[in-house]
Amino acid sequence: SPEQPRITVLGTGYLGATHAVAMAELGFDVTGVDTDPHKVEALQAGKVPFFEPGLDTLLEKNLATGRLRFTTDVASAVAQGDVHFVCVGTPQQRTSHAADLRFVEAATTAIARHLTKDAVIVGKSTVPVGTAARLRGLVADQAPAGLDVELIWNPEFLREGKAVEDTLHPDRIVLGGASERAERVLRRVYAGPIAEGTPVVVTDLPTAELVKVSANAFLATKISFINAIAGVCEAAGADVTVLADALGHDKRIGRQFLDAGLGFGGGCLPKDIRALMHRANELGAYRASGLLQQVDEINMGQRERVVDMTLEACEGSVLNKRVGVLGAAFKPLTDDVRDSPALNVAAALHLRGAQVTVFDPEAGDTARRLFPTLAYATSAEEAVEGADVVLVLTEWDEFVEADPERLAALTQVPRVIDARGKLPVDRWRSAGWQFTGLGRLAA
Ligand code: UDX
Repeated sequence: SPEQPRITVLGTGYLGATHAVAMAELGFDVTGVDTDPHKVEALQAGKVPFFEPGLDTLLEKNLATGRLRFTTDVASAVAQGDVHFVCVGTPQQRTSHAADLRFVEAATTAIARHLTKDAVIVGKSTVPVGTAARLRGLVADQAPAGLDVELIWNPEFLREGKAVEDTLHPDRIVLGGASERAERVLRRVYAGPIAEGTPVVVTDLPTAELVKVSANAFLATKISFINAIAGVCEAAGADVTVLADALGHDKRIGRQFLDAGLGFGGGCLPKDIRALMHRANELGAYRASGLLQQVDEINMGQRERVVDMTLEACEGSVLNKRVGVLGAAFKPLTDDVRDSPALNVAAALHLRGAQVTVFDPEAGDTARRLFPTLAYATSAEEAVEGADVVLVLTEWDEFVEADPERLAALTQVPRVIDARGKLPVDRWRSAGWQFTGLGRLAA
């Protein structure tokens, strides 16, 4: 049987670090490469530089086998590899909605230049459609002559907080633009999940690129849909939570991603729909960009809605009011605060003169780095102490399961805005809380 391909992974953020560890777990020899020496040092020492459940244990285990290592030395890592995964970030550009492709281009160039044998370059980063074809040109220019080098696209769908599970047991594997040889190599790399029944979709480059952003756009649309309906519910005195459950029983709709509330944030959904909006416009597909524009506006409107609700709760002004904020991460089970709706709301209230104290079980440190002017507590109790109003902005279990009586006793006024719709309303009300939820009947 042919030898196992050796794998390099460029970029060791959420995607790359998880991918490198997962590939080692599947039995491959893996080198993770990053230009940031701090990340490399941490990973090589067995420490995941962000909070991702289960990843640290798997990292330590696979480092110990000797199959996995991390380095900043891209030249020697690439020289030894057969399959090179591009897992670097594609952030939103500072001055437009377009994706910034500098890192993808730099990583692809670095791989091409340092190749010493035939190779498959596998793009996993989320990119605007048409990028991979351009990168092929880069590879053709930069790779040493005489080598058989192929660039294909294999988008990644992992969720933060479930990254390990999603990488080892993906819903589907998409292979774009692969020759028979490349497809064979990738099928060997993913033999484990494929054996467990993961479907493989083989397609061209642009379709593969678009599958990823369309999946995110659909999820975002689902969330904005339910948030738009939540507005109707509020106006009509209906309950969006019950409504979502009822909708979800329809198998064609499904219950997932129908949680109304503060909307989506994070390092992916917001920037990915904006990049698709931008790209669709460039391509003249104005219907798609118009739809996504609405999705984005509805989503951002939810943040304003919660700020307005807080102002209303405080009789029109939060000046010098104490606001206890529970949650800073963009969702539970992560310490990621990129484009976090929770921090956005907290900062907006701070700007209006409120004394905001934030608590998050994992994201306190990352939040403080981004918003150093807010006050941070080390427990939910401390955050709600003396509060005129409490906002639940990230639905950590710890908040959903908190004892509302104990918390009520600590506040100045037991008033809560549940912006994620996960608190047990009746328990909080019977504990004396004035309870407001997005898209739910007012108290
Ligand atoms: C997302 C996609 O799910 C993943 O497939 C892709 O690869 C990257 O982007 P992630 O950013 O980790 O993953 O977060 P996700 O779990 O999808 O949640 C996104 C946001 O939507 C969060 O802010 C969450 O709070 C919000 N959300 C989710 C809702 O507001 N309502 C819902 O019903 C579901």
